[in-house]
Amino acid sequence: MVLVLDFGSQYTQLIARKIRELGVFSEIVPYDFSLARIKKKAPGAIVLSGGPQSVYEEGASLISADIFRLDIPVLGICYGLQLMAHLLGGKVAPSQRKEYGFASLEVIQRGGLLRGVRNRSQVWMSHGDKVGTLPPGFITSGVTANCDSAVVENREEALFGVQFHPEVIHTKQGKKVLSNFLFDLSGFQQDWTIESFIESKINEIRDQVGVKKVVCGLSGGVDSLVTSLLVHRAVGDNLHCIFVNNGLLRKGQYHELMASLRTKFSLNVIGVDASEIFLKRLQRVTSPERKRKIIGTVFIEIFEREAKKLGAVEFLAQGTIYPDVIESNPVKGPSSSIKSHHNVGGLPKGLKFKLVEPLRELFKDEVRALGKELGVDPDFIRQHPFPGPGLAVRVVGEVTDERLRIAREADAILLEEIQKECLYDQLWQAFAILLPVRSVGVMGDRRTYQRVVVIRLVQSVDGMTADWFPADSRLLSRISNRIVNEIDGINRVLYDITSKPPGTIEWE
Ligand code: XMP
Repeated sequence: MVLVLDFGSQYTQLIARKIRELGVFSEIVPYDFSLARIKKKAPGAIVLSGGPQSVYEEGASLISADIFRLDIPVLGICYGLQLMAHLLGGKVAPSQRKEYGFASLEVIQRGGLLRGVRNRSQVWMSHGDKVGTLPPGFITSGVTANCDSAVVENREEALFGVQFHPEVIHTKQGKKVLSNFLFDLSGFQQDWTIESFIESKINEIRDQVGVKKVVCGLSGGVDSLVTSLLVHRAVGDNLHCIFVNNGLLRKGQYHELMASLRTKFSLNVIGVDASEIFLKRLQRVTSPERKRKIIGTVFIEIFEREAKKLGAVEFLAQGTIYPDVIESNPVKGPSSSIKSHHNVGGLPKGLKFKLVEPLRELFKDEVRALGKELGVDPDFIRQHPFPGPGLAVRVVGEVTDERLRIAREADAILLEEIQKECLYDQLWQAFAILLPVRSVGVMGDRRTYQRVVVIRLVQSVDGMTADWFPADSRLLSRISNRIVNEIDGINRVLYDITSKPPGTIEWE
């Protein structure tokens, strides 16, 4: 496997992901992961990520130069390259002309990292410093207009560096550079596939769990379903799933999913309709954070109660995926500080279960590929993200049965229209929000004084930033007409034209 040391680049996850796409397993660790631990992991190659700092500034993220003496090929990217040069006796200095964005790569030494890379191919740069003097033993094999050390290599020692970012799509032949590093220069084989992953995970789960019982909470989302299916393959009916209806799900979501879990996947599912309990506990609560906390707590209470009924259960399966692991890593890499995380429903430490987390190493798109392999419906796999606290954070202010009804109906109409327009896959999320204000209107010659619904359509790659979607006015008008005509209590519809930042995707 390839170990990626994280120096805080916003692209660190992309590096790991691109490497896996090339068929090699890779893992991210914080930059200060000790040499002893690195040796224990026995990686076949190491990548030093980019990062926001300068190697010569006080408090820069530094590592021991011994990492270059482990006899393991190393690729430094951007800050990683500068750090390698700095630690091995080269010189790094501020660049007279900073370079952000596209640049054209001049290949001056063929072979090595640049084997098969076209001359003047486009690369993506984002740096203020550059390597001025190379360390002994290194050569320059690629340059750009503003950087005469865009690609440097010490083939003898298997140490390589690129100033550009091969992991982003704007670097046209970035994958070629990474594949040269992996296969030609580090001797990897392509052996990481979803099928091989399933096989090895099933064995791993069997080894861990034996013939004991496992319990898994389903949320209605992809991760928990895929976790259950994988664990089910490993332990069969010793897996018991619990699906709690919190009354905050989309229209039809609970009953449709329950039916398919039982019939299509033959999972052992305990369905618990706890809508009333959740609603009661949310009475008179208006603060978004309080709502989230209450929903998390009630979920745990119910889950615990149901799990107890199953008798002795030793294991809990959770759909934790790789971004969750990185974000909650106690030895944080610097890149984690720019991520927000939201997962409610995380189970408390007091629960005496041993964890089974088969998706811990996977990125979202890999989880989707795995789900497909395990027979999950493509429509289910590509569903938009839905927040754990569900419609409770889309009914602004106090949550009541009546308000949930309105939000649920508006959401269903909106999604129906979006599907009709074949827009669903172009959007990251599409949903309706109910506001706690009334406005005056006129319907059938009569004055009305009713509530307001907001429509939110956004595009995004990862939910961290998002753009509002410039929807066609005829589509908006159809949605607005249907919502006002079909839902009692609504006389006005607004369209949210705020991006993230400065807004967030959800309203609460
Ligand atoms: P925001 O609103 O912060 O949301 O821009 C970013 C992404 O996270 C989802 N989200 C949540 N997911 N529990 C979740 O599981 C939550 O409490 C939560 N809040 C927001 C949101 O739908 C968007 O995709």
